[in-house]
Amino acid sequence: MLLGVNIDHIAVLREARKVNDPDLLEAAFLSANWADQITIHVREDRRHANEFDLEHILKYCKCVVNLECSIDMIEYALKYKPSRVTLVPEKRQELTTEGGLNLHNEKLQKAIDVLKQEEIEVSLFIDPNLEDIEKSSSLNADFIELHTGLYANIYNALFTNINQTSYAIAELILSKSELQKRLEDELQRLKQSASLAKTLGLRVAAGHGLNYKNVKNIVDILEIEELNIGQSIVARSVFVGLKEAILEMKVLMKR
Ligand code: PXP
Repeated sequence: MLLGVNIDHIAVLREARKVNDPDLLEAAFLSANWADQITIHVREDRRHANEFDLEHILKYCKCVVNLECSIDMIEYALKYKPSRVTLVPEKRQELTTEGGLNLHNEKLQKAIDVLKQEEIEVSLFIDPNLEDIEKSSSLNADFIELHTGLYANIYNALFTNINQTSYAIAELILSKSELQKRLEDELQRLKQSASLAKTLGLRVAAGHGLNYKNVKNIVDILEIEELNIGQSIVARSVFVGLKEAILEMKVLMKR
């Protein structure tokens, strides 16, 4: 199973000081040594990684780069030509990508076609539901990336103390048995989505909110061939270093 490391979380730290430290290019080199690809999200508001990072990484680090961006940012993909573009929705006010892509956006088909003409693989970051899988197939995407954010939130509510903190999610302050049921339902949705996608010839990735504790259930879904993980790996790297944090995750991803 392949691992993409979302290094834009390292750029969050850099942007807190507006200096080139930590250096994102160094993060790309290190991650490329131990993971299978670099995933980098260039947001419209440039709150962490930006197009200069993308340009430098593609120029100097001969690694596989998966660029996450909104449909309105594909000009940078066409200019710098990463191996893959994952189209994601974006809302300016969100802390992180909430929810999957709207597949009925009238600009989507054109964006996919233009990227594919340039031989850039296209992945769509979608919620795990069968309708969106079928639509992704009809749009001729190469990959889908299943949004595991809801699964991760339920897992946190069930197995950590987050509900006793200021980071609790009001809708998930539920009894243990209700949370357990929701977790099983969400895993079922992920499994069915991955299975249908594979049957339709789509390649399947997954990501968002995955960490050292909750990743196992996702690794067990055999149709998923790749995970894109940022926050938990970068957070762990503060204590053990980036190489070790990546290797620990790779061990958990072994099938
Ligand atoms: N995949 C996509 C499409 C994302 O937007 C993100 C968030 O950067 C991730 C994966 C990684 O999520 P996390 O940082 O929660 O591991």
